[in-house]
Amino acid sequence: ALRDSCIPKAEQQNENSSNNPQPEASYKVAILGAAGGIGQPLSLLIKMSPLVSALHLYDIANVKGVAADISHCNTPSQVLDFTGASELADSLKDVDVVVIPAGVPRKPGMTRDDLFNINASIVRTLIEAVADNCPDAFVHIISNPVNSTVPIAAEVLKQKGVYNPKKLFGVTTLDVVRANTFVAEKKNLKLIDVNVPVVGGHAGITILPLLSKTKPWVSFTDEEVQELTVRIQNAGTEVVEAKAGAGSATLSMAYAAARFVESSLRALDGDGDVYECCYVQSELTELPFFASRVKLGRKGVEEVISSDLHGLTAYELTALEALKPELEASIEKGIMFAHKQT
Ligand code: NAD
Ligand code: LMR
Repeated sequence: ALRDSCIPKAEQQNENSSNNPQPEASYKVAILGAAGGIGQPLSLLIKMSPLVSALHLYDIANVKGVAADISHCNTPSQVLDFTGASELADSLKDVDVVVIPAGVPRKPGMTRDDLFNINASIVRTLIEAVADNCPDAFVHIISNPVNSTVPIAAEVLKQKGVYNPKKLFGVTTLDVVRANTFVAEKKNLKLIDVNVPVVGGHAGITILPLLSKTKPWVSFTDEEVQELTVRIQNAGTEVVEAKAGAGSATLSMAYAAARFVESSLRALDGDGDVYECCYVQSELTELPFFASRVKLGRKGVEEVISSDLHGLTAYELTALEALKPELEASIEKGIMFAHKQT
């Protein structure tokens, strides 16, 4: 039997929880945009999860072959394919987690906000279907600009009368994955041990790694803080430029998204020790949405961890204030878009 997941786990604060017996595969996951650059490797990684009983792959094209291919892996989940708007509702029936990587990626020279015009409409349409077919599911939004697509999703869910702020997440796990990697490289640390909370949003200066809160504790010079912060903030652009017109991060994103799905499934399964950074409705700051560490439970966000914002360095405090106007404008833009459509 497949006992061990190959999917990376998030930090565990309580070491004993890793001794819990492996639960049975019983959760249904839908991926909307499953034939894309992120969707394909993400589907494969989720197929490897011992917690998943059914994997629903939806896209507007090319998803049959992806599903046929992945379905041959001898892991527990059954793989079903769904193509086009007429099959969208069926792809969402009875699912516990919906992951949305549908939409266009950046090319060199573009900002994430340049994707707004196309991706906002895609996210709106998909969330309408989520509201109608699986309003209780955890919803993971990957499509950029995340700073705006999550507020759009929230408004659409409100309009449908089914908004549950505890179950709507912007996926910012890749920022944490990158921060952990770059810090471990820079400070010669064992990667597995490093955990850097990343707060704010998911674009440019709105991505704020809290290096002073790195676990285990590590000291940085001012130059290291500056260099690491800028590298983490520009890491998406680093990949976009390296791919030179062929898209943005797909493989590292799939890895990060699979980690967030696995964390959500463990939380749904009753593991009381699951923490992840993500972009959620929040009262941590004056902004209505903010990424921070949250505790995940069966009902979604159980607690937004406020302690990470206590005792920040002067550098972090300045960066936190500096990101707020941009993040606020992106949130506002998303809300306005959702209201214009009604
Ligand atoms: P891609 O173009 O390779 O794949 C996108 C997929 O979405 C395609 O298969 C396409 O057919 C599908 N699609 C388009 N419209 C659709 C619709 N209405 N319904 C369902 N599927 C639809 O792009 P990608 O590289 O996989 O990136 C997808 C998105 O993820 C982009 O917006 C990108 O900016 C974003 N992204 C976010 C993060 C993050 O950290 N949150 C990281 C990387 C990429
Ligand atoms: C990333 O951080 O890699 C994604 O948001 C994709 C991008 O456009 O940079």
